[in-house]
Amino acid sequence: MRRLSMEKLVAFCNQYGFIFQGSEIYGGLANTWDYGPLGTRLKNNIKDAWRYFFIQKRNHSYEIDSDILMNPTVWEASGHLASFTDPLLDCKECKTRHRADNLINDVTSDVNADAMTQEEMLHYITEHKIPCPKCGKSNYTDIRQFNLMFATQRGVTQGNTNIIYLRPENAQGEYVNYLNVMRTMRTKLPFSIGQIGKAFRNEITPGNFTFRTIEFEQMEYQTFCKKGTDEEQYEYFKQYGTEFFEFIGLSKEHLRYHDHEKLAHYAKAACDIEYLFPFGWGEINGTHNRTDYDLSRHQQYSGKSLEYYEEQTGERYIPYIVESTYGLDRTFLAVMFETLVEEELEPGESRQVMKLPAMLAPIKVNVLPLIKKRHSEKAMELYQMLQKYFMVSYDDAGNIGKRYRRGDAIGTPYAITIDDNTLDNDIVTLRDRDSMLQINIPTGELISHIMKALVY
Ligand code: GAP
Repeated sequence: MRRLSMEKLVAFCNQYGFIFQGSEIYGGLANTWDYGPLGTRLKNNIKDAWRYFFIQKRNHSYEIDSDILMNPTVWEASGHLASFTDPLLDCKECKTRHRADNLINDVTSDVNADAMTQEEMLHYITEHKIPCPKCGKSNYTDIRQFNLMFATQRGVTQGNTNIIYLRPENAQGEYVNYLNVMRTMRTKLPFSIGQIGKAFRNEITPGNFTFRTIEFEQMEYQTFCKKGTDEEQYEYFKQYGTEFFEFIGLSKEHLRYHDHEKLAHYAKAACDIEYLFPFGWGEINGTHNRTDYDLSRHQQYSGKSLEYYEEQTGERYIPYIVESTYGLDRTFLAVMFETLVEEELEPGESRQVMKLPAMLAPIKVNVLPLIKKRHSEKAMELYQMLQKYFMVSYDDAGNIGKRYRRGDAIGTPYAITIDDNTLDNDIVTLRDRDSMLQINIPTGELISHIMKALVY
């Protein structure tokens, strides 16, 4: 079994309707991608698996859906206005812009630019004459901190506008609603708030397909707890993160932890889970101990008390927050690389097959009349019956082997073939995508058989 290269995966996604270039007919827009019909299904199924793992099967765990646009003071309080920046410099020769830390990390592993100050980075780049990736010369401007937030304007009359920001993370929507959730769900510490939604960042570095984009989705999860229990929660969610990735089919060998030396402005401890992509290890998740930083700042900037009252002890305090955040697009990409393989069947014959867990498959069953003229009516009847339960496809074009292969390539776990045995005895052939084994099964047992494979 061979995993696909990046080039092949991009072509596959375009061919089968998983991902298209954003604004394609206009020549695209750098680092934007649109999900096609099958990609959207897969993405929704990953969201549902996350919902199951984080909301449904955990106690005191609540999902919200807060707005992308927030009062701009939120971003002052959160520290993003002052500190959510990348160190950028320009090449004076060819005028291209680069991230200083990437210039260093791309040429050496002797030092870690993530742990350097701005001055140390500039000194290193100058001393080692690190060449510009575009023109090869080494003649740069000073490093400047460039804020990653997208700003837009709000105002009803011209000239009287306020700057507001597209959120760079989901987390703040969860923080400003912590009291609302606690009150309405009548819950106590520790409890968690999850959210799936878009985030926006003005990234200038090249993307590696959907790995780094300017608009992306996050599945963020915040656990509110008492100080002193935060470290235990932090260790728990590091572990729970790998359990989630294994649950959706990523293999242990392709996952590793990366503890941060240089911490974001809000964190006391941070650790990423990285996945082994064809271009190297890349962060797909982060666990952050955000302490009481965010809620204290929101209390200060809003003037509203965000203290928790602990009934048993009569204490009042600001809860600590342990965050577990998942990049949805990166998780999607990891799932594609992990499960889409080229499999040798016998010398000279191979197939492309996406060995997705059934719960993630965009289509669950492919309905195939063996002979179009003869078996279509019965096949259509079964197709319509199955549609009430699952996402189903119907394919009557080409020979049966080719139709099986099309379903294999997009990860459809089951194909059912309708033939004379179906007309005479209500029995279909059910083919399993991975083993390619075929069994005869009465039509009345189809739903329960398929349902079993879809239970979380
Ligand atoms: N609330 C904390 C937070 O936003 P982060 O590590 O900056 O932390 C969380 O982002 C996750 O979002 C990352 O682990 C990654 O999977 C995803 N992510 C971040 N920037 C991204 C980008 N430009 N494109 C796609 N995914 C991104």
